[in-house]
Amino acid sequence: MIGLRHRPSARTLTAQTLGSHTAGQLLRLCEVVGLGEAAAAGYAQTLTAALGPTAMRPLGLGSGSSSFLSDDHTPVEFSLSFAPGEAPTLRVLLEPGGGHGGLAQSGRAGLAVVRELAQRWNFSTDRLDELQDLFFPLSPQGPLALWLALELRPGGAPRVKVYLNPSASGAARAADTVREALRRLGHHQAFATLPQSDRVLFFALDLGDWDVPRVKVYTAHHDLSAAAAGSLSRMEDGPDPAETEAFFRAASGLADGQDTLLDRRPVQACHAFTETATGLPGGFTLYVPVRDYVRHDGDALGRALVLLDRYGIDSAQLVDALAAVTSRRLEDGAGLIAYLALAHQQGRPPRVMVYISSEAYEVRPPAVSAPLIAAVR
Ligand code: TRP
Repeated sequence: MIGLRHRPSARTLTAQTLGSHTAGQLLRLCEVVGLGEAAAAGYAQTLTAALGPTAMRPLGLGSGSSSFLSDDHTPVEFSLSFAPGEAPTLRVLLEPGGGHGGLAQSGRAGLAVVRELAQRWNFSTDRLDELQDLFFPLSPQGPLALWLALELRPGGAPRVKVYLNPSASGAARAADTVREALRRLGHHQAFATLPQSDRVLFFALDLGDWDVPRVKVYTAHHDLSAAAAGSLSRMEDGPDPAETEAFFRAASGLADGQDTLLDRRPVQACHAFTETATGLPGGFTLYVPVRDYVRHDGDALGRALVLLDRYGIDSAQLVDALAAVTSRRLEDGAGLIAYLALAHQQGRPPRVMVYISSEAYEVRPPAVSAPLIAAVR
């Protein structure tokens, strides 16, 4: 990846648009994970098309949207999913329409994009169609309408995931909406198995060419302690509480013996349902919003490297991936690494996921460290 570290920053290139900026990041990331040029070009084109007219917006105008997909309102986020002995899988999460034009319009744009992809890659949207009245009411509420994630495989046909908003008909109805959506998909007992949470944040569906398509429910957990994190999983033959707790500690920077709560941004848990017989989830993922618990991204990378090493995963590609997305120094911001996550899925080795922000519009300054505050006083 010669030259990446020294490429000019986006803001110095007047002609950069959201589309060209994020497509450039995607192309360089594809190279890092070893996706071929043809597949990469196709994926970059799909990303730009899915963003819609927003892709043409000059970066210099700022985001102009309140997209909740990322902190600086870039409607795109990358992630790498690492498993031992394999090249990492690159994924891209995006908000069709970029969060412009209101939720109803955003939902329509999102559904249109999903249908287009379904036609192109010949997969069914039946499971999404069955839920349309629940997640796309006439006057939708909440922080999003539809997000799309593409898991980028060699060969050029991505796996597709759709994220829906349980609060579309009001936050007070979120639990009922998710219970009903699960029921319609045959998961009658699934809702009852979920852990206590503060909010249900996303309802997600795998569409397309998956071995075992999942239905996923994301829950938010405020003020979570390491011990409480350890006991969140409801997965059958899921992770040992001690393993989840150790991940939580390493990702959040807690010292041994310290059991402070993560009180800035909630931890998220995802339970994935596949079979409908037992009602029990076959997958569990814990997401730690590492960016709110570090001084800067150098710390966040350090924690990611410790975790990858613990799981026997080669981390060279993570370092290259960060350089593919930004030329800034890691110490100069906090938020390039948004989340660290640990995923367990039945029949597969555990995976470590690293979520990488595009930072198309803004870099959050590093946190002022405690000694510095003391010095100022
Ligand atoms: N930006 C939102 C958040 O930080 C939503 C989000 C984006 C998210 N990527 C994510 C949530 C990955 C969990 C995991 O909460």
